Amino acid sequence: MTTRAGKTTVKASTNAKKKAPSTSNATPLTIAMPRGRILDEALVLFKRAGIDLGAAEKARAGRKLIIPIPEHDVRVLIVRDADVPAYVEHGAADLGIAGRDVLEEQDRDLYEPLDLGIGRCRLVVAEPEDRPVDEMAKVHLRYATKFPELTRRHLQARGIVAEIIKLYGSIEIAPLVGLADRVVDLVSSGETLRQHRLREVETILEVSARVCVGRAAAKLRSDRIDDLVARLRAVVPG
Ligand code: PRP
Repeated sequence: MTTRAGKTTVKASTNAKKKAPSTSNATPLTIAMPRGRILDEALVLFKRAGIDLGAAEKARAGRKLIIPIPEHDVRVLIVRDADVPAYVEHGAADLGIAGRDVLEEQDRDLYEPLDLGIGRCRLVVAEPEDRPVDEMAKVHLRYATKFPELTRRHLQARGIVAEIIKLYGSIEIAPLVGLADRVVDLVSSGETLRQHRLREVETILEVSARVCVGRAAAKLRSDRIDDLVARLRAVVPG
């Protein structure tokens, strides 16, 4: 079960602290960060919170993917956005930054103590402007998406029977070449949809990036994680 943003802290119970291995606080706090725009925005936010991870930016440019930041006793892992929850759930990272789209798609056993309000976009259903879908028609509908689980839930809630085709990118071309009738994809500026003459049908999810924390780390490293989350909360707009 996932605990949603803002509704929990990650305080450890006294009991859990007693059970923590004595070495648990000797390793740097490990943060899994997704490469790309979220990373850029997250680094700005961390800096405002007094944690300068600028070395992560420099090392990333040099293709380094494990970046020690000894001055803050932190280690940053640069991973694919969809891989952040796995690193965190299995304890390879103490916490991570991941989009709500990825977190809800995977629905892993993680705490989500803070929404950072960065990496904002929307998950939408879209279709060709000149070929609108009749949801009630008894035809075999196909939806192409990177988010099969969120799409499945959406279709179920709407009572639409359709085949879901899982893709890994360039989703917008699927309806243009006969692979699908509709897409479920992320929209930021809307430019990609416009360029491919697709129109939005509806929004499924408002997306922004969140801090996610694994259960073990929440118990064993609660002081460090609570301090970091409090610092970030203080600089998250609105
Ligand atoms: C994302 C998303 C859209 C595009 C939306 O793709 O899947 O294709 O960005 O942005 P826009 O509304 O500002 O045009 P991404 O760049 O991650 O590449 P991908 O298609 O390979 O997933």
